[in-house]
Amino acid sequence: MSDQNAVKMTPMNYDKDRPKAENPVKIEDLTLRDGHQSLFATRGRTEDMIPVAEMLDEVGFWALETWGGATFDTMHRFLNEDPWERLRTLKRYAKKTPFSMLLRAQNLVGYRNYADDLAKAFVERTAANGLDIFRTFDALNDYRNFETVVPAIKACGKHFQGCICYTMTEPRLGGEVYNLDYYVNKAKDLEAMGADSICIKDMAGLIAPYDAYEIVKALKATVKPPIHLHSHFTSGMSAMSHLKAIEAGVDIIDTCMSPYAYRTSHAAIEPLVMSLIGTNRDTGFDIKHLAKINEVLEKEIVPKYRHLLDDTKLSIIDINVLLHQTPGGMLSNLVTQLREMDALDKIDEVYKELPRIRKELGQIPLVTPTSQIVGIQTVNNVLFDDENERYKMITAQVKDLCYGLYGKTAVPIDSEVQKKALKGYARGEEPITCRPAEVLEPELENAKRDVEGLAVDIDDEIIYAIYPVTGKRFLKWKYGKEEVPDDVKPITLDQAKAKQELLKKALAGKLVEKKDAPEKGENLRTFNVFVDEDHFEVGVEEVGGTPLVSYVQQLQAQMPAMPMPQMAAPAALAPVPAAPAPAAKPVAAPAAKPAPAPKAAEAVDGTPLTAPMPGMIVKYEKKVGDSVSEGETVVVLEAMKMENALPAPVGGTIKSINFGNGDSVAKGDALCVIG
Ligand code: CO
Repeated sequence: MSDQNAVKMTPMNYDKDRPKAENPVKIEDLTLRDGHQSLFATRGRTEDMIPVAEMLDEVGFWALETWGGATFDTMHRFLNEDPWERLRTLKRYAKKTPFSMLLRAQNLVGYRNYADDLAKAFVERTAANGLDIFRTFDALNDYRNFETVVPAIKACGKHFQGCICYTMTEPRLGGEVYNLDYYVNKAKDLEAMGADSICIKDMAGLIAPYDAYEIVKALKATVKPPIHLHSHFTSGMSAMSHLKAIEAGVDIIDTCMSPYAYRTSHAAIEPLVMSLIGTNRDTGFDIKHLAKINEVLEKEIVPKYRHLLDDTKLSIIDINVLLHQTPGGMLSNLVTQLREMDALDKIDEVYKELPRIRKELGQIPLVTPTSQIVGIQTVNNVLFDDENERYKMITAQVKDLCYGLYGKTAVPIDSEVQKKALKGYARGEEPITCRPAEVLEPELENAKRDVEGLAVDIDDEIIYAIYPVTGKRFLKWKYGKEEVPDDVKPITLDQAKAKQELLKKALAGKLVEKKDAPEKGENLRTFNVFVDEDHFEVGVEEVGGTPLVSYVQQLQAQMPAMPMPQMAAPAALAPVPAAPAPAAKPVAAPAAKPAPAPKAAEAVDGTPLTAPMPGMIVKYEKKVGDSVSEGETVVVLEAMKMENALPAPVGGTIKSINFGNGDSVAKGDALCVIG
């Protein structure tokens, strides 16, 4: 290594004479987006960001990442929050630091390429709602997918940060496809498109320290825009890679506040600040101020999310990621998916198969949405294939990928897989080679018509256009046209603590002594609690409580009502007598919408089409009375964001349809009966 870039060190007294660095490393904080996305399944609520927003604004970050990625989806789907509103709200608290988002180029904040009219409108509305830096990536690094959003970002006068998704063909940088030349050429492409900065987006924490050094060095020598490194901690290398990238002259580094750092998230800011003090790259940040922010996060915020953290392992790193290259969020998704399908024992097989499926699908980088596409297809192959036939259940998204609808893959897709996927594909069996959005019809006007009378403004219309099923449901919640289910409502810090206490007791088998349970009141909230393989449904009610709207709630000394474990109770809970409380909640109570029960599928004669996996009904292609032939698609089921067309097991007439669009179904549920 040449030492001309060596970080220079001046001995000094930290408090008294810390000099301003010649070339401070700039830092983007990811706590409010990638941090909770990586550790807490993107469930962070706006009300839990407000207490630290002003303090974060004081640190001196280059940018705060506050939006994009999975936030748009999760907020309207699971949190009953308007994604646009978060942007406007946070902007009121953090006025100085630019806001950054993660934009999936033509995929926007969804999982497919959207038409140009929608993509342009989305960028314009995002800028208007307060977003400053558009970190833009394409899962295939196919920059034709930037051609619509980039001019829109520029026209709004905003910062276009172009990403290169970091992936590898070999265990380290080099080899056939993803070598140093690849990254240098991609950076040149981005510079030519007018990138205001260039980000190496290492979503799975794959970049090794000396590879980071090589790439940053090469990019600094070739292109003018500032170079930014985004490297997840997953494999445990990122803090070292940060330091080597800094030595190579990287301009901007991504970190999280320590409670939201490490594991599949990012390295923390605090150790980096200390490491660089007294050097020419000192961040200049006040470590004491950072500590204050951490205290708020630790004491007031994190307890509400702790249960979402996957802490089944003692180790905070995952060396497997170096083998299967799956990014942070996807790992836990795969585990969840397999668990719900009673197939967690197949996880090793899934890891083993993943590289093969990835190669057959064009050696693509694994990042949303390609990580889901490859991951779920692998799960499908492991679960449904047999020795006679591979790719028995191909998701709609894999078919789209094979058609070219996501763009050009790094190497050609396996021709046999491609042929099989495109057999009977609605757009045609011959794949396209043009920019994908060129074959997409404008879609915004249709979307507007669909939600006429429900959507109030363009922002509402865009929510629906990107997420038709869950977006429409959210708009109904938003405008009081449908009851908001309990499980999307926020919980208070007190409720979170009570839940933790109950869980501890349940696990210790201390819930057996018990007085007569009072009647369940209207403040009863139901929580799903997952412990390893066990699932508890726990009802929590604050005695004498009122409906809670905010976490600023006086601590009350009373214990909540006894929990009623209703499902999968472990042995320790078995002796608890059934609750004497009436099963039905009081009529006036804002009761949670019960999970839709299969409508007496047994009562109808015929062959049921059962759900092969848990998921959400996207749409039925048939209605009662329609005739179907064997193998014809009857219903489209979304599982882990991927759509699966479920074929009729037999030919006949649809005798009954047991669910509606948007309903959640469990594995084995009879979706319809054919007779
Ligand atoms: Co990330």
